[in-house]
Formats: sequence, structure tokens, C-alpha cells
Amino acid sequence: VEITVASSGGNVTVMLGYGAMEEEINHAGDGGLYAELIRNRAFQGSDLYPSSLDAWEAVNGAELALQSLADPLSLALPYSMNVKGNSSVIGFKNSGYWGIDVQAQTYTGSFWARGSYNGSFTAALETSAGDTLISVEIDSESVSDAWVQHNFTLTPTSPASDTDNVFSITFNAAEADGGALDFNLISLFPPTYSDRPNGMRKDLMEALAVYGTKFLRFPGGNNLEGETVGDRWIWNNTIGPLTSRPGRASTWDYEETDGLGLVEYMEWCDDLGIEPILAVWSGLALDETVVSESEIDIYVQEALDELEFLTGSVDTEYGALRAQYGHPDPWTIRYVEVGNEDYLNGGLDSYISYRFSAFYDAITEKYPEISIIASTIEMTLPGNANGDYHMYDTPDAFVEAFNQWDQYSNEHHYLLGELAATEYNGADVSQMYPWWSGSVGEAVYLLGAERNADKIIGATYAPLMCNIDSYQWTPNFIAYDADTAATAPSTSYYVYQLFNQHIITNTLPANSSTGFGPLYYVAGLDNSTDERIFKAAVYNSTGDVPIGLTFEGVDEGTTAQLTVRTAPEATSANEVGGANVVSTNTTTLTAGSGGMFSFSLPNLSVAVLVTSSS
Ligand code: AHR
Repeated sequence: VEITVASSGGNVTVMLGYGAMEEEINHAGDGGLYAELIRNRAFQGSDLYPSSLDAWEAVNGAELALQSLADPLSLALPYSMNVKGNSSVIGFKNSGYWGIDVQAQTYTGSFWARGSYNGSFTAALETSAGDTLISVEIDSESVSDAWVQHNFTLTPTSPASDTDNVFSITFNAAEADGGALDFNLISLFPPTYSDRPNGMRKDLMEALAVYGTKFLRFPGGNNLEGETVGDRWIWNNTIGPLTSRPGRASTWDYEETDGLGLVEYMEWCDDLGIEPILAVWSGLALDETVVSESEIDIYVQEALDELEFLTGSVDTEYGALRAQYGHPDPWTIRYVEVGNEDYLNGGLDSYISYRFSAFYDAITEKYPEISIIASTIEMTLPGNANGDYHMYDTPDAFVEAFNQWDQYSNEHHYLLGELAATEYNGADVSQMYPWWSGSVGEAVYLLGAERNADKIIGATYAPLMCNIDSYQWTPNFIAYDADTAATAPSTSYYVYQLFNQHIITNTLPANSSTGFGPLYYVAGLDNSTDERIFKAAVYNSTGDVPIGLTFEGVDEGTTAQLTVRTAPEATSANEVGGANVVSTNTTTLTAGSGGMFSFSLPNLSVAVLVTSSS
């Protein structure tokens, strides 16, 4: 295939690049990115998922009882655990998010206790067989008529051999009034990314940093919507001290703590230097309840309050609250998405007739600089509104949709807010992990998007994360368990990451006598470096595809770096604890006669060629 790339004349990109979409699913937050190690730390519950003692076990025959006291730790955390016994040393242990990774590092812990007790507590990390890995004594400050927080650290000097470990707290029941004490909000954190208190798990954030994430769409997804109106993601329930966060019934079969709340999402964006794309609830719940036109303003106001909290000066009511929570400087929000998949669950008619416009008009009036994204493209977008498109399909379907965005004008822009090849061609079964031919199919589609980068806001795989010990959806971008050394960025991760390394600021027209397929590509320029960039994927070829690539204005003797990613088999996948199946081969090419770079790409490969800057 001979391709000639013009030196000017393409599109000016508006594309942020490749980002992330995070919602509480698959224990992406709790038991994933949010670094808390204690599961069910505050006995949070709801009608859907009642409070329980899940993950807790008695030590030395203690009686553990879930109680709703007249005097709870807080209104948000009404349940606590009563621990009672006759032995001198009793207590309780927690098995974590299906294991605890114990390393030679400092763990920061705390718990709240209530009840008269003059002795001490022992906090420990132990193997599940009961061998102590590290322990610390904490003098009791517990009294009968108040909840008192106790803080401690644990610093093991060597790592445990595996993650089959527990966290325990014991005390001398003989010295406690009535042999019993109440406990709540029992927490243990390893060191976090950027050392943030209440922060994020390091290995997963590092994987996102290496990916080069350009934006974060949050907090959903279906999880934004909630099963019922009352279960929607409510921003002001997710901020402030942990004692004031009730948690909520996530959409995905478990109660979430909301420890990863609105402020933590923004800190995540700050730490990775990425663009937040904030989704606000649009008046549609998954049980198909639609808020009426006469009541929609209540929820529009909720969104405006949230924006004031994030972006308002400290002189505003909610800006002052943000300052109180440690962030006097306002954040910048450039993108707000109204809802999630409002074309589903009987939502489209009301979205088109009044729900979207209610949010669009109110937010645009107060924040004209914010770009509003509709959660569907199945409507006529008003003014400068944009749309969000989702696609879960087979690799073949992604390849067939290569030219989808050629059909659109650049009057409105489109977020590709959830993409994934989920099933093998012809097999109606979701795969556990992304697999190589699926990832190459996605790559072809992404190249079609990049060719239209004057219309595309950005693109992201979804879902982002999966704790393989408890999940609701497969496949996912990054999979993991409690063992931080076993985290598995998927084959798709390596495709997106390669494309994210070189952002085209202007596409350049590329002419070839051969049509697209099996080679698909985009060419462009990075005007900050003056490098010419060529991104390509080969899907369904019978052999290697020879390529002669010429950039107008690039002379014979110019060098270029060619990076090619492949995998051994079409079905090769990256599994937790396994080796990375994606291989990366980087070579330096020199332009021959006429400035042509000559190389070939094998079937099922993804490649980026970058000329050296002039
Ligand atoms: O990514 C999983 C789910 O797929 C999202 O929550 C929803 O938006 C989509 O249907």
C-alpha cells in the first residue's frame, strides 16, 4: 500500500485523546482504586443491600452484633458493631477486599469505639492461619457516653508471602464495662498515590498514569442513574468527613461507601493532570422513573449547586464548603454530561422534550464556557451541545464502523464515552478479559475517530476496572485482585496507550490508490513538535501488509520511530497474575528515495510511526 500524506489541509483536532470512565462497578472504587483495605468498614446499608457484618469474624469466641444505637457515631453511619465476650482477650477481624496485600510499608489506621474501657487495644495484620505479621498496642480512650476515634500505624518489616491475610482488633473484655464495646468506621490504608489521606491505590493509579489518561468521565454509567430516584448518585452525600457519608445502593449489586467521592474524583484529576468530564443526574432512574417537567428544576438546581461547589468562589455558599473541605481554589469544569444513556429505560422522549433542555439552558446560562454533552446522539442537538456515543460489540462490528464519524459534520462534537469489544465474532458470550483481535478491532474504530478529530471530544474503553474477586461485568480495561503485583492492564490498554503517546493536533490528508482494509490508518501532525505521525492497524489480512509511506516535505534520509504491537494469538489476553501477551517492537526507519518510509505490518498489529522533529 502506497500512501502519500499532504503537508497541510486536514482537520484541527478538538480531541482530548484517550481517557477513562469510572463508576462503582466491579469494585472499581471500593476494593479497587480507593485504597481502603477494610471491607464493610462502617456497616453501611440501604433497602437494597441491608447493613450486615459481612467480611467480619469474631476472635476468641467474641459475640459480634450489628446494632442501631440510639446514639450512633453519626446520622450518616447509624449502624455499629457490638463486641462482647468473657475471655480476657476478644475481638474481631476483617478479611479485606478478598485478601490484604501486606508489604514492608506504613499502614495508617483508625477506628471509633464507645464504652467504658481503661485497657489497651491491639491492632494487627495477621495471616489467615493466625500468625501475626505486625501488631501495635493502642491505649484506650474509650468512654461510656461518647464515640472516640483511635489512630495507629502498622509498619511490617517484611512482606507477607501472599494476600491471604486479615486485619484484627482485640481488647481485654474483662476491663470493659459489661465485657462489651461498640465499634464503627474501622479503617486501614496503605500508602496512597500522591500520599493523599483517604487516597487511591498506587498500582492502579500508576497504571492510569502510564496509560497517559487524558480525561476522566465520572461517576457513571448506570451507577450515576441509580435503581430508583432516591438511589441516584447524590454529590453532597459523597463529600466531607467519612462520618458524614452514608454510602449508597450502587447500581451494581452492592453498597458503596462513597469514600471515593466528588472531591476524591477531582483530586484524582489533579494528580494525573487530566480533564474532568462531570456527569450529572438527568431525571431518569433505571427503574424507568422519569422526573416530570414540573419537578425537573429540583434536579437542575442539584447540578448547579454541584457546579458551584466545584467552581464557585469561596464567597459562594458551596464554594465556601469546598474551602472548608481543604480546597479553597476552585476547580475548572469544562465538560458536563447530562445523564447516562438517556435513550434507554424509556427515557428518550422526555429527554428530548424537556429534560435535556432544562439542564442545557440553566447550565449554559450560568456557565457559558462549559461544554454540555447529551448522553445520546439519537436527538437533534441544540446550540453548541455535544453528544455521547457508546458501543459494546464484536471486533468485526468495530471495524465495520471505521467510517462512522465521516458521516457527521463538525457542528457538534462527540464523546465516545464507552467502547469495548465484548464478544468474539459470531459468539454471543462476553469475554472475561479483552483479547487481542478485539483490541485490534477497537484500534481500527479509534483510527476512524482520529481521522475525524475535529468532531471527537475523546474516547474511552469501559468499564475501567475489575476486581476479579467480585465483579458484575466483563471484559474490563484493567483487572486486579488484592495482590498489587498481579494487576493486569489488558490488551486494549496497550492499544489505547500506544495511541495516547502521540496526540495528533492536525490531521493531514492521506492519499492512496488502495482503499481501507485490511490496513486502516490516520496521518497527522503534532504542531508542538512538528513531528509527522502515522497510526495504523491491520485487521484480517492474509499476510504482512507492505507499506510505502511518504510525507510531503519530509526528505530522503529523515528518520522515524516505528512502534508495532502484536500478540501471539488472536485470542491472547492479559490475565491477573499472568505475563503481558502484548509485545512491543520499536525500530528506527530512514526515508529512502523520494522520502518514502518502507516497512510492513503483520496481521493483527497496531502501529505508530513518528518522524523525528525537524
Ligand atoms: O460500562 C458498563 C455499563 O454499560 C455502564 O454503566 C452503562 O453506561 C453501559 O450500559
